[in-house]
Amino acid sequence: MYRLVQGEKTRLRPAAWGFSDVELRRRYQWSLDDELQYWSGAIPGGRYFAQFSATVGQRDWPSDGRRISYAILTNHEELIGMVSCYNIDRRKQTGEIGIYIGEKDRWSEGYGTDALITFLRHLFDDLGFQSVYLHTYESNLRAQHSYDRVGFSPEEARRRYSTRLGYHNEVRMTITRDVFASRHGLRQTAAVR
Ligand SMILES: CC(C)(COP(=O)(O)OP(=O)(O)OC[C@H]1O[C@@H](n2cnc3c(N)ncnc32)[C@H](O)[C@@H]1OP(=O)(O)O)[C@@H](O)C(=O)NCCC(=O)NCCS
Repeated sequence: MYRLVQGEKTRLRPAAWGFSDVELRRRYQWSLDDELQYWSGAIPGGRYFAQFSATVGQRDWPSDGRRISYAILTNHEELIGMVSCYNIDRRKQTGEIGIYIGEKDRWSEGYGTDALITFLRHLFDDLGFQSVYLHTYESNLRAQHSYDRVGFSPEEARRRYSTRLGYHNEVRMTITRDVFASRHGLRQTAAVR
């Protein structure tokens, strides 16, 4: 069920399998990056590294089953980001997606789009999801370009207030299993489940 998922230029590893000390330190550095926090909203951090490493497991993969997170690795096993599905509603078979590439010098090289396609294939194919959605800032054109390539459609924009951004517009985007399947394909076995 939860497994290592191979994409074209990324592979996803369940966060529940844990992280090396080097990887955890890298993630902690991401949490301190203002630009990354600005665009992504809520990268888990902590006052100190020790606090971060003691709490991040519960945040990545809480025991209530409402969130699952995967490390985004390159094909050379380098940790470059995280992708998760949260607010999981098992009855409606849906959830909200969050993604970031923490290594900023890897932005716009296709890793985020590949990781997202790989993650959605896993959600739709292995884990029984029927649709997923996400929210992004209207000003986040890079993210929207990537989501558009994956096949997400914008649904509605809403005006929000946050201490970090003040008033801003947020776009909700969704994709169903059928749209994903016609765009990217699912494995043959998915049809007989
Ligand atoms: C959003 C994010 C996950 C996308 O991953 P990525 O690996 O950088 O994206 P990709 O390279 O796969 O795709 C980005 C696309 O946007 C394009 N792009 C880059 N900057 C752009 C801009 N200012 N305007 C429009 N398109 C832009 C890229 O050229 C690329 O398109 P292409 O593949 O057709 O050339 C990553 O940039 C990131 O982590 N950003 C910071 C955190 C964040 O915004 N998270 C999402 C919160 S909703």
